[in-house]
Amino acid sequence: MIGNNSDVSRGAEKKLLTEWDTILREEWYSQEEPDEIVINFAKLLKREKRKMRVLDLGCGAGRHQIFMTKQGFETHGTDISSTGLNLTKQRLKRQNLEVYLVKCDMKNLPFVESLFDAAICLHTIYHQKLKGIQETISEIQRVLQKEGSLLINFLSKRTYSYGKGEKVEENTFMETEGIEKGILHHFTDEEEIKHLFRNFNIVNLELSEKDVEGKLRSRWVLTAKTGITLFGHNTMMRQA
Ligand SMILES: C[S@@+](CC[C@H](N)C(=O)[O-])C[C@H]1O[C@@H](n2cnc3c(N)ncnc32)[C@H](O)[C@@H]1O
Repeated sequence: MIGNNSDVSRGAEKKLLTEWDTILREEWYSQEEPDEIVINFAKLLKREKRKMRVLDLGCGAGRHQIFMTKQGFETHGTDISSTGLNLTKQRLKRQNLEVYLVKCDMKNLPFVESLFDAAICLHTIYHQKLKGIQETISEIQRVLQKEGSLLINFLSKRTYSYGKGEKVEENTFMETEGIEKGILHHFTDEEEIKHLFRNFNIVNLELSEKDVEGKLRSRWVLTAKTGITLFGHNTMMRQA
């Protein structure tokens, strides 16, 4: 069910919602093929040989939620865009897969503590300022179980588009033209990621780079585990 626990009533999020709603209608942004790093992460999770509940933060049009659900994980998608959530819902239903979707901002997740065994957040967390990134990481930590697993990626400062658009703060730029006009991009480096995830156990942190028509696309890919948490879990949704 697409819940109404959204945090989209404020101006900034309303604007973001409109932009992502338009963007996700484009074929390039609603691909069905999962990213290879998610395929590899699923293999790692499967080694644990137990039923797992996985959170897909910023599920977009659902390619990773569909893939993870097919792999046998109870996968919950969240996104700020109704377009993305509706596409995901249609795709899941068409394939007779369970639909667990909630509309919300990634900085404010409507779930109780320690609900998920794993989380994925691909091509998403860096579409905000550093403060939003920090808040999102705290939320991920809060909703993950003790020793929960995380797969997440970040734009690296080495990527061709670093510095493009209007600077809104150090290493964060707003796109001023094209389909992503108005969208924020935060670029990061190894030191910043290690600091952001200082409360996690970093399993692997590596640069994934490829040259596309002479342009370097460079992203940091992180897998990490949470440390000990003091919370248990029973119900799924946090009280408002
Ligand atoms: C580039 S898409 C990636 C989608 C998907 N993870 C994938 O890899 O195909 C970025 C997604 O982040 C979502 N998003 C952007 N800002 C958000 C926010 N503050 N809270 C939740 N989702 C957000 C957008 O709606 C969009 O679906």
